[in-house]
Amino acid sequence: MKNIENIAAILAQFKCKADERSVRAYGSGHINDTYFLKGRDRAHTDYLLQRINHNVFRDVEKLSENTCFVINHLKNKVKNNGKGDAEKEVVTLVPTTGGKYFFKDQYGNFWRMCYFLVNTKSYDVVQTAKQAYEGGKAFGRFHAMLSDVSPHAIYDVIPNFHNVQIRLEQLASAVFFDNCGRAILVEEELIAIKKYAQFMQYFQQPKQLLSLPKRVIHNDAKFNNVLLSQNDESQCVIDLDTVMAGYVAFDFGDAIRTIINKAPEDEADINKIGLNIPLFAAYTEGYFHEAGAFLTSNEIDSLLMGVLLFPYMQAVRFLADHINGDKYYKTEFEGHNLQRARAQFNLFEKLYSNQQLLQDIITEKSGMLKLGVSN
Ligand SMILES: Nc1ncnc2c1ncn2[C@@H]1O[C@H](COP(=O)(O)OP(=O)(O)O)[C@@H](O)[C@H]1O
Ligand SMILES: [Mg+2]
Repeated sequence: MKNIENIAAILAQFKCKADERSVRAYGSGHINDTYFLKGRDRAHTDYLLQRINHNVFRDVEKLSENTCFVINHLKNKVKNNGKGDAEKEVVTLVPTTGGKYFFKDQYGNFWRMCYFLVNTKSYDVVQTAKQAYEGGKAFGRFHAMLSDVSPHAIYDVIPNFHNVQIRLEQLASAVFFDNCGRAILVEEELIAIKKYAQFMQYFQQPKQLLSLPKRVIHNDAKFNNVLLSQNDESQCVIDLDTVMAGYVAFDFGDAIRTIINKAPEDEADINKIGLNIPLFAAYTEGYFHEAGAFLTSNEIDSLLMGVLLFPYMQAVRFLADHINGDKYYKTEFEGHNLQRARAQFNLFEKLYSNQQLLQDIITEKSGMLKLGVSN
């Protein structure tokens, strides 16, 4: 991650009491650059400063409007239900001296700041069923709290973000231009992806367009976008940049992609990739615990397709980025995106051949709720 040369000038723009000498890179996000800063004295809270990736988010003004809208809505929900603590359960942005929630510096970088939520943890790899269950609760609650917001209230900051048809077209275009001469080396992967291309168009079919409600969803529901408390209880959903209209199955599928794999997202040895079914069951149970009350039966029926779609689509995106010369995802070594694409495709195939088992668990967990036996 790049050092920040103009840290003092950036901090001066925000209504904060951050100690500029304490700045250090933080977290493992692929998209934005995140820095931690200590408060200037003990009484002051710590902060996170983020450089927004404006190659990904082209309209930072609209992005900021979306985020503020969603944060206000969530905070009001938490306050109104009288049980929670809106300061701990919803991210709080730090305003600039000009009353905005982002700042553009002289180099064209966009910065945003939020309060650091103490005593929280985010996991790149889920370790226990309890963590998975609590993650399911966090996203279920997030969906439930946003279920009364019209999807038209939110700007589409990245149009077609989870449209697999467009992702396949982007892959085809990467192959066509083949700027780095890599396409010829990945023919096997391209054939494998093509084999399932038709099947994966489920969410683009007219039947689904008519029967599935569009809702305001997270759109980047990776497990590490949930903060759990020190006791591993769900506390706060973070990383709200991509909150836009979509299907709940998208978030369900993306979260499961990051939970169910026994190996890391970029595992080089595909023999290590396997399905952790207990974690899947735990997440699903947690999710229904919070979201079961508002989901339609069509939405419940669509969840499995979300589970299949996300590793598949991620494989398509990683492969396209590899062919394009690693322009979108940060990479740690040459061929990293190809390795990620292979791992995600292998995960997809394993999920594909275990569909019945996964569906049975979804049915059981949603049925449990209807029978009132869920805790
Ligand atoms: N308000 C916060 N309090 C504590 N930690 C946070 C907070 N927001 C983000 N983080 C941590 O910083 C990491 C990166 O932040 P995130 O907003 O998810 O960026 P990215 O878009 O790069 O994934 C998270 O995975 C989490 O560990
Ligand atoms: Mg994140």
